Amino acid sequence: MAPTAGNRILLVGAGDVGAAYAYALVNQGITHDLAIIDLNETKARGEVEDLNHGVVWAPSPTNVRFGSYEADSAGAALLVITAGAAQKPGETRLELVDKNLKITGGIIKNCIDNGFKGIILMATNPVDVLSYAAWKTSGLPSNQVVGSGTTLDSARFRYLLGQLYDVAPMSVHATVVGEHGDSELPALSSATIAGVPIADELARHPERRLEIEEAFYVTVTSAQRIIKAKGSTSFGIGMALARISRAILEDQHVALPVSTLLSGEYGQQDVYMGTPAVLGRGGVERVVQIPLSEDEQKRFSDSGAALHAVQDPYFQ
Ligand code: LAC
Repeated sequence: MAPTAGNRILLVGAGDVGAAYAYALVNQGITHDLAIIDLNETKARGEVEDLNHGVVWAPSPTNVRFGSYEADSAGAALLVITAGAAQKPGETRLELVDKNLKITGGIIKNCIDNGFKGIILMATNPVDVLSYAAWKTSGLPSNQVVGSGTTLDSARFRYLLGQLYDVAPMSVHATVVGEHGDSELPALSSATIAGVPIADELARHPERRLEIEEAFYVTVTSAQRIIKAKGSTSFGIGMALARISRAILEDQHVALPVSTLLSGEYGQQDVYMGTPAVLGRGGVERVVQIPLSEDEQKRFSDSGAALHAVQDPYFQ
């Protein structure tokens, strides 16, 4: 079911993440029509003008423009929200919940009041809790509300494992699941390197377990390191959002580890968490529960509990 025809994207947030996402959209020719809204209109208009100067080199034209809720909500197939306070050095994503619930809640109300009925893609942190909040406040079916989830974390981990095994990350299939945050976990028991289960790799080279654990530690600490170095992360998340957007707009039926509503999967209820889900024009077509080892399942449950501890006071 395609809630809204066409491929217009309404992007709310023209900060570092929004700008990187918009740049990826233009460079990859994912949409013909990109409307950008930001409270800082001058900044947003500057990004719009700058992006339009690259369209001539893109694979297909994108009409990048400064948008408005009134003119652009009803016709948008995809609403992408990157607006909100960003993590500061040493701050966890979950600590942003209070201020970003208010910011994203206002954005969603503006869009719904102006006729939006497409797919919401949440990127603002804490993305799992804010995706749940977006579902609750938008009134849209849960399959039409998705968060970037652990798509970026999985990309980071795949890159690092590719470095370790000297193979392109596209040939590493390893999924990080759970919270997009400190309680996430790698589903190593189902990971493969160029088609070979990691368990088999480790049986041959048990000394590599430490290196794999180190690769996951580097994954989880990536954001803080990059924030300290350049003030925010942007390119990794921007490209992850572009990948999710393409999957939805082109009705690709591809499975990506997004943040989606769990209703019993992994023993979790009433919470958005990162797990592979099949994406198409209708948003989440099916949640995929991947096999977890006993230890991985325990960590997943702990991750769900960490999210409920933050979410429930606002919604129970
Ligand atoms: C990061 C932000 C998007 O992990 O949470 O880079």
